[in-house]
Amino acid sequence: MRVNGKPTRTIWLAADAKDGIGDIEVIDQRKLPHAFVTVRLKSLDEAAVAIREMWIRGAPLIGATAAYGIALAMRVDPSDASLAKAYDILLETRPTAINLRWALDDLRNTLKQVPPERRAVAAYRRAAEICDEDVAICSSIGDHGLSVIKQIAAKKAKGETTNILTHCNAGWLATVDWGTALAPIYKAFDAGLDIHVWVDETRPRNQGASLTAWELNQHGVPHTVIVDNVGGHLMQHGRVDMCIVGTDRVTTNGDVCNKIGTYLKALAAKDNNVPFYVALPSPTIDWTMKSGMDIPIEERDGAEVTVMTGRTKDGQVVDVTITPEGSPAANFGFDVTPARLVTGLVTERGVCAADEAGLKSLFPSH
Ligand code: MRU
Repeated sequence: MRVNGKPTRTIWLAADAKDGIGDIEVIDQRKLPHAFVTVRLKSLDEAAVAIREMWIRGAPLIGATAAYGIALAMRVDPSDASLAKAYDILLETRPTAINLRWALDDLRNTLKQVPPERRAVAAYRRAAEICDEDVAICSSIGDHGLSVIKQIAAKKAKGETTNILTHCNAGWLATVDWGTALAPIYKAFDAGLDIHVWVDETRPRNQGASLTAWELNQHGVPHTVIVDNVGGHLMQHGRVDMCIVGTDRVTTNGDVCNKIGTYLKALAAKDNNVPFYVALPSPTIDWTMKSGMDIPIEERDGAEVTVMTGRTKDGQVVDVTITPEGSPAANFGFDVTPARLVTGLVTERGVCAADEAGLKSLFPSH
């Protein structure tokens, strides 16, 4: 996608890399929307911090960064012990997004077949491939999701805007490029469809208000930021034609784990007959898990709930506390939307029912 008109990905090899080996650069998403800042990851530990502290975030980008985290470890020490240690350090950074384990397993399997002296080159090459594959996958999700939006738009009266609600950030910032839930939206906008996006702010980290809104602004897509509790009201009044969200893990029964608050949107959508779609790349499917109820749900620091960051009128970015001294806060990062509330899963291979038969019809080798 473009930042200030310049084609940009969320992760790339630094320009001073030699023979495909070097530092990694990412967009520091903590600084958005107030500043566009990139940061260099020079070591395994820095890659782990970037994932854990959410300098980067979003399931596919977490996977891509973890792959480069292994590469950064291999350029220093390509031994079996170093590979095992890097795998463990990266795996514990965030528990919910399955793309993390998927990417780490991929790198470990690839590198086990390569002698240590060639592992750094192989790791960087595979990490770069994972990034390119993610871009292609997300573009395909965009194409299949565009068909869904076109069908829904076709039912509207002539001249009526199609209103799409999304939660959290499942745009290009959450992937290497394009995004998952936002890819169909970008493709619909580029195809000239009259669309408008309701953007859930997504407390406590405000990925909607900060990141999705910033992305949509960069691309010129009409949108409105709403607080997390508005969606149900809008749906009751016929002001949402479809919902589309991303996901951090889909289990084989079609349950969908995504940013906290997604479940409530799906309930409201069901009650109001609003189609509720989930966009996902295949590495987000956990073929080893049968039910979403078994997914580990990340619990983060309560300070993310009690303290908010924002820009003052004079341009300073400051933290403010919004709760009384001494009130504890709980911070559950994700929830599970049962498959029965999901209209369809939009993957790189097409749209399927949110159940095992649907998933296997698109991915029969599993
Ligand atoms: O905690 P985050 O910001 O990493 O959570 C991200 C989400 O929940 C996204 O919606 C999900 O990863 C899908 S990203 C394409």
